[in-house]
Amino acid sequence: MIRSILLAAMTILLAVFHSFSQTAMTNVYGRNKTSLNGKWEAIIDQFSIGTEMGIFRNRKPTKPTEFLEYSFENGLRLDVPGDFNSQVTELKLYESSVWYKKDFQLKKSTDKRYFIHFGAVNYLAEVYLNGKLLGRHEGGFFPFQFEMTNQLNNGANFIVVHTNNARSADAIPSLKFDWWNYGGITREVFIVETPAIYLQDYTIQLEKNSMKRIFAKIQLSGATSKQKINVEIPDAKIKQTVTTDENGFGEISFDAKLQLWNTKIPKLYDLVISTPFETIKERIGFRSIQTRGTEILLNGEPVFLAGSNVHDEIAQREGRAYSEADAAQLLREVKKLGSNFIRFTHYPPFEPMVRMAEEMGIMIWLEIPAWQKINFENPKTVALGENMLRDLIARDKNRCAVILWSVANETRVSPARNKALSGYIDLVRQLDNTRLVTAAFDNIKYEEQTRTYKLNDPVADKLDVVSVNKYFGWYHQWTDSPENMKLEIAPDRPFIYSEFGAEAQFGQDGDTENAWTWGELYQEKLYKDHVKMFANIANLRGVSPWVLIDFKSPYRMHQRQQDYWNRKGLISDKGFYKKAWYVMYDYYIKMQMPIKK
Ligand code: GCU
Repeated sequence: MIRSILLAAMTILLAVFHSFSQTAMTNVYGRNKTSLNGKWEAIIDQFSIGTEMGIFRNRKPTKPTEFLEYSFENGLRLDVPGDFNSQVTELKLYESSVWYKKDFQLKKSTDKRYFIHFGAVNYLAEVYLNGKLLGRHEGGFFPFQFEMTNQLNNGANFIVVHTNNARSADAIPSLKFDWWNYGGITREVFIVETPAIYLQDYTIQLEKNSMKRIFAKIQLSGATSKQKINVEIPDAKIKQTVTTDENGFGEISFDAKLQLWNTKIPKLYDLVISTPFETIKERIGFRSIQTRGTEILLNGEPVFLAGSNVHDEIAQREGRAYSEADAAQLLREVKKLGSNFIRFTHYPPFEPMVRMAEEMGIMIWLEIPAWQKINFENPKTVALGENMLRDLIARDKNRCAVILWSVANETRVSPARNKALSGYIDLVRQLDNTRLVTAAFDNIKYEEQTRTYKLNDPVADKLDVVSVNKYFGWYHQWTDSPENMKLEIAPDRPFIYSEFGAEAQFGQDGDTENAWTWGELYQEKLYKDHVKMFANIANLRGVSPWVLIDFKSPYRMHQRQQDYWNRKGLISDKGFYKKAWYVMYDYYIKMQMPIKK
């Protein structure tokens, strides 16, 4: 009894905590916005004492005997967006508080509402406007917003953001993860002006299992009476009107004759949604994604996911990716490999990357950073994961290129984990029943008598597509010759081999027998062996090598071979193609060749 009361209390607490930061409005890029990107003043606060010192007030001394032991002036300047680790040498390994401040002028209209929108802050954010707390947000890779209409001055204002990228056992991800813990205001910041009644959220996609019926769900904020909303897609000769209820919610579905988005011709339409108070536009595509037995069907046709695993990082800058140019650099490499699919690991990338991938016809897997050891025993942690799924789906649910939501990566089986992930899968289906749900597992077991690898995981049974990370030849020995390996993973469903690979230093041949040579020859042979193994897996419907590009990680401490780089990239941190890159290119290009009759 006590426990259930405690649980209820914790969940309410978290809801309050999360309610401070509202789920960001849909399609922030299509809004009436002012960018706060650029140089922000900053203070490094290693002991996180800035809150008690009142840094957020940015006060000045008012009498001769007064002095303040902080000041933003004539000090550090940090670029926003951008992690702080890669901007200041001393901050390379830093994991604590950094305070940011930005002054801005705003001409305030009495009939408008004002929001501040963050693309992401890693990991904790406390946002103050003119010295007063707007709210807090937890989670390093998700957008959030605060309404600031009432606290805003007409004229001069200042924002202070307390960021802290310290890790913790109850966070998602938790204390250890195999990527660099880039902190700070890592993504864009906008001030958004809206009408008093504004279009807060909408979903417009094809209905599940349909290629000709569109559904639209609309949510206004601030409405107290019914409103007429027009949904137009001029090139498809669509003009529909939906009337919302008194709470601002309305939905409609209608038949449509569409050119469907696919990886060869990624057709996008201009969407125009107009309310009596504003008009919002964006480019939007329509496609169907389903499974049928062991097949994945894109628009009813079987498709093989020729993947790339991509971290949100620009290796040459040793920093988080955040710009259109960064997105173009990474996505161009994906296309050059012959990939038609990206698994963005292990967190959603910045939004323009998803939009650009969609324009380029690349299918996408998005996941929350529930990576390995997550403390699912803590209800606050479980609820945090739910909020991350909500924020992820709210942001990208209108991106037709997104075909898979993933709820976890290599989490350890336990009653708490099984319960939490089962709940996550149910939540995803409730929020968006049009896409496929997956998770990546690393707990396949070898059955001696049949010499077959099998997966026995209660969570796997709830998924549309089952994915496995397994590093034969690297973390695990081959138990047979590659062409004789047998994997029987979820034989009734599509299976994605979502991670495999080995480390290699570019330009270092090593030999084909010894992993410790960190050589390209070993990595190349390992890839050739995996391609042989893939031919045996009857329900294999996608592969994604780990990883497209070398990336930074505190895990990787071999000072000569790694130097804090995970060197499993097909491409080195300097952008050079290793021998294994050509193995995957050959595999993908051959796969897309028309089959000779
Ligand atoms: C795991 C994990 C990756 C990690 C990789 C590795 O499978 O999912 O995030 O980087 O192994 O060890 O290189």
